Amino acid sequence: MDFQLKTLTHAQVADHKSDVLVVLISSTPISGDEGLAPTIAAARKSGDLADKPGKLLSLYRPPGVAAVRVLLASIGDGMTAAVRTGVLAAVNAAKGSNPKRMTLMFAQDVDPAALRSAMLAAAEATYVYTSTKSKPEPRSLRQVTVAVADANPLREAFEQAAATVAGIELAKEWGNRPGNYCTPTLLAEAAAELASLPRVRCEVLGPKEVDKLGMGSFAAVAKGSSEPLRFVVLRYQGAAKSQAPVVLVGKGITFDTGGISIKPASEMDEMKWDMCGAASVLGVFRALGELQPSVNVVGLIPSCENMPDGKALKPGDVITSMSGQTIEVLNTDAEGRLILCDALTYAKRFEPAAVIDIATLTGACVVALGGVRSGLFSPDDELADALLKAGESAQDRCWRLPLDDEYGEGLKTNFADVANVAGRAGGAVTAAKFLQRFAGEFRWAHLDIAGVAWKGGAGKGSTGRPVGLLLNYLLDAARVPPPASTPAESAARTSRRGAAKTVSDSPARKRAVRQPR
Ligand code: BES
Ligand code: MN
Ligand code: ZN
Repeated sequence: MDFQLKTLTHAQVADHKSDVLVVLISSTPISGDEGLAPTIAAARKSGDLADKPGKLLSLYRPPGVAAVRVLLASIGDGMTAAVRTGVLAAVNAAKGSNPKRMTLMFAQDVDPAALRSAMLAAAEATYVYTSTKSKPEPRSLRQVTVAVADANPLREAFEQAAATVAGIELAKEWGNRPGNYCTPTLLAEAAAELASLPRVRCEVLGPKEVDKLGMGSFAAVAKGSSEPLRFVVLRYQGAAKSQAPVVLVGKGITFDTGGISIKPASEMDEMKWDMCGAASVLGVFRALGELQPSVNVVGLIPSCENMPDGKALKPGDVITSMSGQTIEVLNTDAEGRLILCDALTYAKRFEPAAVIDIATLTGACVVALGGVRSGLFSPDDELADALLKAGESAQDRCWRLPLDDEYGEGLKTNFADVANVAGRAGGAVTAAKFLQRFAGEFRWAHLDIAGVAWKGGAGKGSTGRPVGLLLNYLLDAARVPPPASTPAESAARTSRRGAAKTVSDSPARKRAVRQPR
């Protein structure tokens, strides 16, 4: 969607042509006799426009206003949550007339957080999935002009919100695609396309390269499917080479049947969303490419299907991970941790400032936190606090859960170094304890997004979470760069940087995938 930010007075907004003008009104007093100001003041006084966020009053071609339709919308106290409620209500109401051009005007002063909240809500209310519809009715809204009294202090927040929307919408697109339109190969091609953005590079590894790296755990999950696995390595370089990158690792199971430990049939379709961690990484890179912040970021996406088959993993099988640790697979449906553990081991080579994995990992996390907050796990208080804070300001919240060693007891087995499942109790935590065994050598956090990555009901679909949280975290990191490493350290870092080859399992594919630079 095309957003524009403009400095417009009440009088100028009245002269501004659009299909619908949404006037966002908070509970602070409003004065003046220009444009709609007297109408707004009168409506507020009469009680027709209560302060309750989401309350609407609609007008058709009001005299002196160039817009065809006008919606006065209350945004309550003007804080982010109320702005979101007000904008969702107004834009949903306005949608009925299929507007192409909308003006979103703040009647009073607006802060960066409220502006961002309004833009994200406007995008959310008008998003439509069309990829697999034969007669798609695409989003009619093409252009949203955000009108404020003074655009200058809001410019940065505006750019960030517009880029966040682009990232969220990319994540939604790939999340919503069904498994047959979102295979590991197609997902990796979507990643490779991001390399057309400035400072973004992408390498894609296939089965041969992954075997060579010794990723026995990831490869074992992929064995049950005829779709070849992909391992995506995305890089965004916005800062000096010597600066340690943040590594994002996204679970990319393009369909999770459970494997031989097969899932029940009901609602199994929802397991097409089991690559939403990966999709959030793609969304973040999309936004980074647009914003060009001064950070270095690596995105790792292990991607495959989890299928039952004659070649599939069997319960009781013991596999060897890239770290050397052997794993007894007691349940083939606990596959996410099996692909992530090898990606975490791979992450070490980047000498990362921090590694954050993002995964639709456990049903237990859905039970614990529902669809409101992601589960956050980290032994590092500073990293956990930074992610919590980023989530609050992005309205993409998470909640910290524990990592006490006692939770890891159930992963003990007589037949390997570790089992891939413990008992039912504390399932989100035991999954995190499994991952932690592979993340001992760097600052690490794990986000379990099983409850938040998509929603059911009439608006069934991807949410694009946690693109907003991750991006806010990275933009915060760009503002406070980590202390520079010594020349010796950075020289070592440069020479040890990962050198991977591009996948080659068909000539056609080879062309579609970007070569490493
Ligand atoms: N992808 C699922 C987790 C999931 C389940 C996400 C439901 C969203 C909704 C994951 O691979 C899985 O199957 N986890 C198992 C782990 C269990 C076997 C220990 C689960 O949560 O049931
Ligand atoms: Mn599973
Ligand atoms: Zn899964």
